[in-house]
Amino acid sequence: MNRTVNITVNGVAYQETVPIRMLLVDFIRDRLGLTGTHISCTYEGRCGACTVQVNGEAVKSCMLLAVQADGDSVTTIEGLSKDGQPHPLQQTFNEHHALQCGYCTPGILMNIEEFLRKNPRPSETEIRHALIGNICRCTGYVHIVEAIAAAADRMR
Ligand code: FES
Ligand code: FES
Repeated sequence: MNRTVNITVNGVAYQETVPIRMLLVDFIRDRLGLTGTHISCTYEGRCGACTVQVNGEAVKSCMLLAVQADGDSVTTIEGLSKDGQPHPLQQTFNEHHALQCGYCTPGILMNIEEFLRKNPRPSETEIRHALIGNICRCTGYVHIVEAIAAAADRMR
């Protein structure tokens, strides 16, 4: 069974007819071709690689059906930079060597962007807690935490 949905992604309005069981992550990647949103734990909700924002709230897009986002505004990693300028998080992740393979990075950035909007002066403990839902398998977390703290400073 299919349903037509209206979803705005990175400021662009899409009207698409989708299977009612299509996951939001598959809609984003396969239907729209926005492959910066990753799948790592094969749709189990554990890795955070698929994190996007729906109406400004970070969500794991493998845990949501596309039809549940009908009428919503979705932001993916492709929509994080503004006016051709990298977001401060993208800048500091680069400067602090906070990624190796980069597979986890888009999900981390989409999660942490919301976190820093709500908590612009986070402690290290709060940053580490905010990362609980994002698994990085190759960097370790020290540089990631440093990059987030630096981005918080830059954004204030
Ligand atoms: S693919 Fe969604 S949490 Fe892992
Ligand atoms: S940088 Fe490779 S999984 Fe995080």
